[in-house]
Amino acid sequence: MAKIFSPNFIFKRLLSNKIQSQKYVLTKQFQGEPKKSDFQIVEETLPDLRDGEILTEAEYLSVDPYMRAYMIAYKLPTDMIGGQLAKVIQSRNEKFPVGSYVTGAFGWRTHTVVNPNIWNALDFLPLTTIPDVSPHPISLGLGLLGMPGNTAYFGLKEICKPKEGETIVITGAAGAVGSHVGQIGKILGCRVIGFAGSDDKCEYLEKELGFDRAFNYKTSNVSAALKEGAPNRVDCYFDNVGGEISTKIMANMNKFGRVAVCGSISSYNDPKLPKVTIVQPTIVFKQLKVEGFLVSRWVDRWDEGINMNLKWLNEGKLKYQEKVYHGFENMVDALVGMLRGENIGKAVVKVK
Ligand SMILES: NC(=O)c1ccc[n+]([C@@H]2O[C@H](COP(=O)([O-])OP(=O)(O)OC[C@H]3O[C@@H](n4cnc5c(N)ncnc54)[C@H](OP(=O)(O)O)[C@@H]3O)[C@@H](O)[C@H]2O)c1
Repeated sequence: MAKIFSPNFIFKRLLSNKIQSQKYVLTKQFQGEPKKSDFQIVEETLPDLRDGEILTEAEYLSVDPYMRAYMIAYKLPTDMIGGQLAKVIQSRNEKFPVGSYVTGAFGWRTHTVVNPNIWNALDFLPLTTIPDVSPHPISLGLGLLGMPGNTAYFGLKEICKPKEGETIVITGAAGAVGSHVGQIGKILGCRVIGFAGSDDKCEYLEKELGFDRAFNYKTSNVSAALKEGAPNRVDCYFDNVGGEISTKIMANMNKFGRVAVCGSISSYNDPKLPKVTIVQPTIVFKQLKVEGFLVSRWVDRWDEGINMNLKWLNEGKLKYQEKVYHGFENMVDALVGMLRGENIGKAVVKVK
């Protein structure tokens, strides 16, 4: 990864009050896993604030699967997209005083000048202030109390519409969204079965988060696992991964089951799309309802999700883990680590 710093970077900083920001620019399209050499880190001088604007300094940057999936749609070179949790360090907007924290889709960059009143970036991550979450870490604003938390909350409640006593199956179950979906499933009185990529993750899901059963999809027979874990078959499937495992799970669903198609991470790093067993006969004969969604559908109800997740957190009904990477220079390692499954819960990067 090339760093483009002007030679008098430090000298300029000493002479000027202007803030120098660093940002990642994607210069080469991903082939398979993202690589450091796909990016350049570029330095830029930020303008003085105008009325309504704030200057923020990133404290935590998010690494999310969509970053791998979405960038193929962009013309290069382009600034790397992504959410971050940032502190307001200068303000000309009374709603966002110095010292307050915001989340926004500012991208992989250290400092940002933005006017929250006319913010219009990735609309699945609105610019919001962060409530007091103490004693919990403020980075929850990127996870349980942010976009992934709302994906779990709205995706499960509004698409799967689970009823008490029903059985929910979740893939990607130990990740940011999946671990949260399972816990809401338990709050709603459902039987919850998870699939995740290691025995440690499965143990965490069963022993710490209260999943009824969790199976390692890398070592178990999925159909046999479902017979054992979901004896009354499956009513709701929260699909984070796509591919053959999803076809197998859908084949084990009850009539009129509901499938929330949240993502398909099993294919994101794959240069060619995998072939899977045809799923339409199952959908027809079981009369399944299969619905894809983007969390942005509920942007006008964003606070409802955050407040409910915060309430459940404070009541001890939601637990979390974070995988914290360190250093702005390690963003790519963090993204790749998350895609490889290094994380339990939300993967974030502490900038300094
Ligand atoms: N629709 C929306 O609005 C929306 C919003 C947010 C997220 N999403 C989607 O939700 C899914 C989960 O996102 P997240 O942020 O919660 O990420 P995450 O689950 O925290 O992290 C990604 C996880 O994916 C798993 N994984 C990687 N390769 C896999 C493969 N080949 N097969 C199965 N699992 C694999 C890994 O866990 P293992 O160790 O278990 O393999 C890894 O930990 C993604 O598909 C994402 O695109 C959608």
